[in-house]
Amino acid sequence: YHWDFSFLNDYGSYYWTGIKKTLEVSLLAVLSGLVLGTLVSLLRLSGLWLLRFIGTVYVEIVRGTPLLVQLFLFYYGLPIFLGFDIGIFTAAYLTLTVNSGAYIAEIMRAGIQAVDKGQMEAARSLGMSKGLAMRQIILPQAFKNVLPALGNEFVVVVKESSVLSVIGYAELTYQANAIRGATYISIEPMLISALIYFVLIFTLSKLLGIGERRLKTSD
Ligand code: ARG
Repeated sequence: YHWDFSFLNDYGSYYWTGIKKTLEVSLLAVLSGLVLGTLVSLLRLSGLWLLRFIGTVYVEIVRGTPLLVQLFLFYYGLPIFLGFDIGIFTAAYLTLTVNSGAYIAEIMRAGIQAVDKGQMEAARSLGMSKGLAMRQIILPQAFKNVLPALGNEFVVVVKESSVLSVIGYAELTYQANAIRGATYISIEPMLISALIYFVLIFTLSKLLGIGERRLKTSD
């Protein structure tokens, strides 16, 4: 087999666009997923069974169906129910947010439950309301404890965002596939994209590792 990477001259810019779009949608989805997931984790820890039930149903539905199927449901289904087109980016971003939100809800729930009971008791005995104690005392500690898990979730989302290529969101995998279609070279464009994913993720986990060690010493 004659390896041919000459397409990089003409199509290198495709990869740059792909990297930008991959990171863009992943970062936005994990940040929104963090807000959504934290709210859902509070639902799941609520004293009211109906709220707990709503949280559980959401998490179980998302975890129990494939991301690809969720993507199709949002992309084709939402415009029907809303009555207007939501566009590729919005469908991609919403799906990834709703998906990641469920996993982050579980991360946050574990993180909140891992904070010592005495923290809530001490805050309450100082006269804080439950909500205030949760926001000011419990959540900050929980957040710090689950930071490694959240970093891991970001890594997962960056890789899973490749699924978004099937609705035409022009991230990294879509670009590699587009190069294949334009050049009739099949394996090399995908190999390059694999290499780029690897470098992105490897750099990311190194950065996360540094951040974790910093947090440990600040304890
Ligand atoms: N491959 C899994 C699926 O299709 C992806 C789950 C996404 N995971 C995550 N932590 N956001 O359902």
